[in-house]
Amino acid sequence: MKTRAAVLREVGADWSVEEIELDEPKAGEILVKTGAAGMCHSDEHAHDGTMPVPLPIIGGHEGSGTVIGLGPGVTEFEIGDQISCSFIPSCGKCTWCARGQQNLCDLGAKLMEPGMIDGSHRHHDAAGNPLTPLLKLGTFAEHMVLSVDSAIKIQKDVPAGPAALVSCGVTTGYGSAVNRAEVTAGDTVVVVGCGGLGTAAIQGAKVAGAKNIVAIDPSEFKRESAMEFGATHSAPSMEEAMELVGGLTDGVQADSVILTPSVLTGDLIAPAQFLTRKGGTVVATAVAPAAQMDVQLNLFMFSMMNQELKGCLFGSTAPRKEIPHLLSMYQAGQLKLDEMITNTYTLDQVNEGYADMMANKNIRGVITFD
Ligand SMILES: NC(=O)c1ccc[n+]([C@@H]2O[C@H](COP(=O)([O-])OP(=O)(O)OC[C@H]3O[C@@H](n4cnc5c(N)ncnc54)[C@H](O)[C@@H]3O)[C@@H](O)[C@H]2O)c1
Ligand SMILES: [Zn+2]
Ligand SMILES: [Zn+2]
Repeated sequence: MKTRAAVLREVGADWSVEEIELDEPKAGEILVKTGAAGMCHSDEHAHDGTMPVPLPIIGGHEGSGTVIGLGPGVTEFEIGDQISCSFIPSCGKCTWCARGQQNLCDLGAKLMEPGMIDGSHRHHDAAGNPLTPLLKLGTFAEHMVLSVDSAIKIQKDVPAGPAALVSCGVTTGYGSAVNRAEVTAGDTVVVVGCGGLGTAAIQGAKVAGAKNIVAIDPSEFKRESAMEFGATHSAPSMEEAMELVGGLTDGVQADSVILTPSVLTGDLIAPAQFLTRKGGTVVATAVAPAAQMDVQLNLFMFSMMNQELKGCLFGSTAPRKEIPHLLSMYQAGQLKLDEMITNTYTLDQVNEGYADMMANKNIRGVITFD
């Protein structure tokens, strides 16, 4: 079938919205009419080359939609099911899936390779050239063909926008606080970078009962919005937060510091460490340039203060469990997802949406489809 998608042909080029040819879903795949697509910073990392991806790609890895076609033998879904995409597929059979760590599923190793999970192609441009859907999803498209391993069946009555946000950003940010930092009642938590992920981390810390949630962002709009999602204090930089966090904790410093800025660089680790108490945890969630090797860390203090530095992929959780769970919390009024959607865009406005993200106008921009 013919559909329309936003394609990136080379690093730094604009997203090109074009008509593409989409093949029928094969065994183990479904055809989805896209409902909404969230504009995560990781697509920008594909665009600016921070994260190497197989070009040309169809952008987007936060998305929701309705199942309108089934590949041969698919029994996991029915026509009409509502789904959220999962930016990491889960096979259900590998060691990591069996351990409940679906965010570490072995299929993740295929994500930076061309084509679908099996390496073949369902997407072609008008000239017949193969296209790779980003992270095997490509949600910046009116229709998607994706593996059943990348789709999570969700409640029928969740609006498309919130259902898209839990595909990546909300689940990752919330889990950075709840699962990885293991925030508990009365904690002091610092969240560095208050965009989509940081806002979800703030909400996670609040749900977990944190006493102080310090939001750090150079953008005044982000600092102000953070307070509406549960932050109790804010500062423009980690350096400027030192005195504040010290004052809140009798000089002990924060139980955890969660790093969700636009891009993670090695120079951000030491200031995060200095904001963390003895025995405390720094969670590194943001994407770093792929070749980044140098990290500033006071090694003496790190061991002598019994500190932890943890990486965090997809909120360190099992998406098949967590995505419907977070949506049920949204339905119960415990998570503010509608409020995270600052602006909506048409597919044709995808470049405008990313310009707005880079200009700090959005907590999350969302592409909506009819
Ligand atoms: N680990 C994962 O599984 C995972 C999943 C999704 C996204 N990510 C990454 O998480 C990061 C955040 O994504 P997002 O969509 O929330 O981005 P975003 O653009 O919505 O928000 C980033 C925020 O960081 C702020 N910022 C930039 N530099 C800062 C600094 N030095 N100190 C404090 N704040 C700073 C910006 O002003 C902005 O508000 C990106 O690197 C993204 O690629 C990681
Ligand atoms: Zn993402
Ligand atoms: Zn697996």
